[in-house]
Amino acid sequence: MIRKNGAIFCLETPHTTLAIKADTAEYLYYGKKLVSAGNFESCRGLPCKLLSQFGQDDYTEPSILLENADGGISTAFTFSKSKILKEKPQIPGLPSSYGKGKTLELKYVDEPTKVALYIYYTVFEDNDVIAVSSKLFNASEKELHIRRLASLQLDLLGDYSVVTFEGAFAREWQKVSRTLNKGVFYIDSKNGASSHNRNPFVMAKGQDGVYAFNLVYSGNHKEIFEACESGKTRVLTGINDFMFRWTLAPGEQFDAPEAVMCFAPDEDGVSSQMHAFIGEHIVRGKWKKKERPVLVNNWEGTHFDFNEEKLLGIARAAKKAGVELFVLDDGWFGNRCDEHRALGDWYDNIEKTGGGLKHLADKIREIGLDFGIWVEPEMISEDSDLFRKHPEFAMRVPGREPTRLRWQLCLNLADEKVQNYVVRVISDVIARSGATYVKWDYNRTLTDPFGKGIPQGEYFHRYMLGYYRIVSRITEKFPDVLFEGCAGGGGRFDLGNLCYFQQYWTSDDTDARKRLKIQDGTSYGYPQATMGAHVSACPNYHTGDSNPLETRFNIACGGVLGYEMDMTKLSVEETEVITRQIEFYKEYRKVLQFGDFYRLGNAFGGNVAGFMSVSKDKGTAVAVVTVYEQIFGGPAPAVKFKGLDPSSVYEVKAREQANYKKAPCFTAGGGFLMQGNVFLSDIYEDTQRRENSGCLYSRMFLITKVKKEYS
Ligand code: DGJ
Repeated sequence: MIRKNGAIFCLETPHTTLAIKADTAEYLYYGKKLVSAGNFESCRGLPCKLLSQFGQDDYTEPSILLENADGGISTAFTFSKSKILKEKPQIPGLPSSYGKGKTLELKYVDEPTKVALYIYYTVFEDNDVIAVSSKLFNASEKELHIRRLASLQLDLLGDYSVVTFEGAFAREWQKVSRTLNKGVFYIDSKNGASSHNRNPFVMAKGQDGVYAFNLVYSGNHKEIFEACESGKTRVLTGINDFMFRWTLAPGEQFDAPEAVMCFAPDEDGVSSQMHAFIGEHIVRGKWKKKERPVLVNNWEGTHFDFNEEKLLGIARAAKKAGVELFVLDDGWFGNRCDEHRALGDWYDNIEKTGGGLKHLADKIREIGLDFGIWVEPEMISEDSDLFRKHPEFAMRVPGREPTRLRWQLCLNLADEKVQNYVVRVISDVIARSGATYVKWDYNRTLTDPFGKGIPQGEYFHRYMLGYYRIVSRITEKFPDVLFEGCAGGGGRFDLGNLCYFQQYWTSDDTDARKRLKIQDGTSYGYPQATMGAHVSACPNYHTGDSNPLETRFNIACGGVLGYEMDMTKLSVEETEVITRQIEFYKEYRKVLQFGDFYRLGNAFGGNVAGFMSVSKDKGTAVAVVTVYEQIFGGPAPAVKFKGLDPSSVYEVKAREQANYKKAPCFTAGGGFLMQGNVFLSDIYEDTQRRENSGCLYSRMFLITKVKKEYS
């Protein structure tokens, strides 16, 4: 709800209040919901601004920086008007959140040039996340250049520590906390994607609670924190201004990507708001709330070395264990026998598929599984028919040796001809195979950014606009298909992509120990139904480490479950174990994928870590508790569960796991389960531990309400 009192607007979400003074472009308050608004004027001190500019006497990091038509960089945006919009405006060409809610539109004008800046704040009725976006309109008669246009500026008072999620290929989502002293700190990405290295989801933790920010964008981004000498901490998020220079002709507008922010008392509160927001206002289409199928993917099991017989063997074994969807990964097209060739040749390799994609897909469907297909549409191999025919489709600087990563080049998606080509060939792959699931991969970062006629400073963003044009057209054409994004794992796991792809492959590292942290990190900003999580074979392909099959399953239950292995190689016992796992997963899939999610213990620094998903009515919960190592001589590891009803009685039953002889069961009050210590007294009795030294200890618990009131 948005309330207006003169120039003051009060934006209320279920648990927070944001007060804005439009005429002075100031935040008067942002935090825990105010019961009565009172007189904000009396509590005004250091101005917390919602926009900042350069050229006058403000030397803090600006939210807007223009090269004006007059040749200067000074701007003086002053208030023009405000409006409350009933419908949330769409952002042309860019993904954004959707849903019921009101939007505050604020307009500021730089009088000498007549350039207008619009800032939008949308509050949704059901959620604390506020969506913010900015747009610039050139009402002058001359062109100007945008050097920076932040999507969101928030000025906070007091001291903050910043939490970011950083990493690399197969090591995404490592949680990093830094205390901000005075000065400027930023994270960014310059490689054309939201990146494995630094996700745009960030948090600022202060005395009163936690502020969290994210960007609905998949390209280069930058999050700046400036702890000013005045005691103010400025937060800016938006497109990275590195290499950015956008020409805005008279009468044109530029839309910055949408940013989102929320305030909650603690990190769990932030996650729960972000999860609910993504589930309701970002993810869309038929699969938004639909339970996701258990899949088998052949990548780790076969890599490029497969034929029809091998694939059907995996499909039969998977079907027997209860799997629902078969995903054919890389290697099915052109002469793709390894990573060096054929990207772009999206026609069937008859030999490897035994007669074409449709033939293979039909055989898989005859076995009783749905068929899913892997594609990597944004890429081109130099050894491909596409490159031989259209070398100009590749992104490279004329006259220079291009940088090859994974032996491949990127397509120049900033070119409309290339966009149309991609839409046509990928639509054809989906249509001719009848796929109900598509894995959209992207296995290298952008280098040699160049497109004929495109100014360098516009290239990265124009690539993203081309990319969004492609994915929006394809996903609209196939509304029933479940899309899973992938970028060599989680290299482009962001809110922009989740507007099109309902799931994202979290990481190529499927080792349970590494996955625990990777998924834990992801869970701060993104819900479990968006995270692809697979059980793979041991020793693990990336790390060489082993963990019991049950441990691998427990941890994969933190996301959307899949198996990624050659299932024909499983022993009878292993097949039985997996069959029981899938049975369990299907029974509790709704709560695991869409329940309220809580992190347990501390994956980054503690010895006990895990998660639990709780049904909306708090009647059923599934918890996974994992212990990194045995500490001799200490007390048994303990856990405090979360999200239960404190006044109800629950039965806590360990899932029967093949690596534990017993499955303990007890009843206790919800209050005790959350506040007391639940000791995991038999956690070290893992019977498969000795064979797999160095492995994790992990148990899964089913927690069900048995009595409403504790007496
Ligand atoms: C990277 C992905 O993350 C893997 O799962 C697999 O699809 C390979 N690409 C295939 O090239």
